[in-house]
Amino acid sequence: MILAIETSCDETAAALIDDAGRLHANVVSSQAELHARFGGVVPEVASRRHLELICPVVQSALDEAKLTFDQLDRVAVTQGPGLIGALLVGISAAKAIAWGKGLPLVPVDHLLGHVAALYLEPVRLEPPFLCLLTSGGHTLLLDVQEHTSLRLLGTTLDDAAGEAFDKGARLLGLGYPGGAALDMLAREGDPGAYSFPVARLDGLDFSFSGLKTALLYAVRGLDSAELERRRADLAASYQHAIVRALVEQTLQAAEKIGARQIAVAGGVAANSELRRALAGAALAPVELCTDNAAMIASAARYLKPLNPPGYLGLDAYASRQLA
Ligand code: KG4
Ligand code: ZN
Repeated sequence: MILAIETSCDETAAALIDDAGRLHANVVSSQAELHARFGGVVPEVASRRHLELICPVVQSALDEAKLTFDQLDRVAVTQGPGLIGALLVGISAAKAIAWGKGLPLVPVDHLLGHVAALYLEPVRLEPPFLCLLTSGGHTLLLDVQEHTSLRLLGTTLDDAAGEAFDKGARLLGLGYPGGAALDMLAREGDPGAYSFPVARLDGLDFSFSGLKTALLYAVRGLDSAELERRRADLAASYQHAIVRALVEQTLQAAEKIGARQIAVAGGVAANSELRRALAGAALAPVELCTDNAAMIASAARYLKPLNPPGYLGLDAYASRQLA
């Protein structure tokens, strides 16, 4: 039985998984509301909130699974990339639990975790596959040949797709984080109403910053009554441009490496238009797209654990290391 902890951004999460890959608990406590009035995640506020939530979240995962600390075999934790202060809360808790019970510890890369959501029920995907990993912090095309190795094929040159959703949502007055709200609003709009530019880059990279500027100018050109009337059309057209860029590059990557299977993971994989556009792909279940500890637990099954006391000096990392 593995206890996994995830605290890389603004979700405090704990999950339990057995050696057959069956989830026994998956608890996620989101701090989104706490950060909403600042229009984004405030790192120090996130760290402090993680500190308050980590013990009750771990305990409620154990309660949900009807397990005690004595029944654990391993502890897994997100090591990075993410906010250093936030990560350190999870890492310190994981070390304390593992050390206290004499258990091995498995450090997990957050991106490997997002991909590992695809190994869980009901998708149960097995490598090799091409993965579009699209979240608030990353937009990556990955050649996944094995459970534990990712080869980078393309990435964003500026904003991540989730960031583009959040910034667009903000311009449309939808609050933070606005990706899901923009998705909802877009359902009432016409995706062909505005023609927003999709950057066409050589190779397999992405760029979303021009799109955001185009939306800014479109919004600026409207008075408040017009904006209210066109908001759904703007949302639908903007979303359509992001999804088109994601889909086009993914299909191109699949062709380039001769991928037989395409998969999509990460927070933006929850987007309804993207899911429709890539309906033939393996899609992570919506509840496992945004940050959670089940995906960290899933990745931990394939990684080598560190024995005590070797992990006591383990540190967090802020930027992408894998791929
Ligand atoms: O994977 P995640 O929880 O955090 C990171 O690792 O970054 O992704 C969060 C991102 C946010 O930008 C959020 O707006 C976006 O995923 N998101 C969506 C949807 N649900 C979440 N974007 C578009 N449509 C959605 N339905
Ligand atoms: Zn994430």
